[in-house]
Amino acid sequence: MPLDLTQMLDPKLVVLTAPRSVAAEQYRALRTNLEFMSVGGALERIMITSATPGAGKSLTAGNLALALAQASKNTLLVDADLRRPMIHHLFGNANLSGLTTALTRPDEWEKYVQRGPIANLSIMTSGPIPPNPSELLSSVTMISLAGQLSQTYDIVVFDTPPVVSFTDAVALSQTMDGVLLVVRAGHTSRKSDIKGKERLSQVNARVLGVVLNDVQMQDEAYSYYYGYGEKKS
Ligand SMILES: Nc1ncnc2c1ncn2[C@@H]1O[C@H](COP(=O)(O)OP(=O)(O)OP(=O)(O)O)[C@@H](O)[C@H]1O
Ligand SMILES: [Mg+2]
Repeated sequence: MPLDLTQMLDPKLVVLTAPRSVAAEQYRALRTNLEFMSVGGALERIMITSATPGAGKSLTAGNLALALAQASKNTLLVDADLRRPMIHHLFGNANLSGLTTALTRPDEWEKYVQRGPIANLSIMTSGPIPPNPSELLSSVTMISLAGQLSQTYDIVVFDTPPVVSFTDAVALSQTMDGVLLVVRAGHTSRKSDIKGKERLSQVNARVLGVVLNDVQMQDEAYSYYYGYGEKKS
């Protein structure tokens, strides 16, 4: 009998564990919004970040990647949070090698891609934590690896550390087609969220919009996306 990979998933990966929930529906709506936004310029590499820690970046990256894969997009989820990597915990993958290993052996990067729990989803975990994350993420090798990844996959989703504490995500944003900022309801101050957005705007990153995470509605936690320029209620 084949191994049931879904048994090792974090239950908060609701797109798979609770597909009929409001939260899962909102992640699918986020996917649809991204499809519309790609009309204005290809979105092959997307980065998920937030101003401060604990906003729900990893959970958003995981659920979005699942929703994209379910829509038959050949999707790669990369854990580029080399500070507090979480993707291997969420998906129950091993993390002996991954992005950091691929960066030291870029010709062999395919070896460091693991199978995801559903068809069309592949996962590159962080690999061992390096002493110099921001240097690695802003390196020429990273730029070239990101290029190779998007030649192979329809879409690559990168989970990253928060932008206010570290320069990693700001550096990586230069290699991305778009950035999604996660804001957790009642969690961070508006001031830090604005600071996070400013950090990205200063380097001309294409900030696609904000994912408002952990809003309580009908007793259910869910995420909601709004793009810049849309009315926020
Ligand atoms: N909408 C939600 N409902 C319930 N729990 C949530 C929600 N969003 C996040 N969490 C929980 O909050 C914690 C932080 O979430 P997550 O790891 O996704 O955040 P993060 O922004 O990636 O954090 P870090 O900055 O440490 O990388 C996790 O335990 C996660 O399960
Ligand atoms: Mg995280």
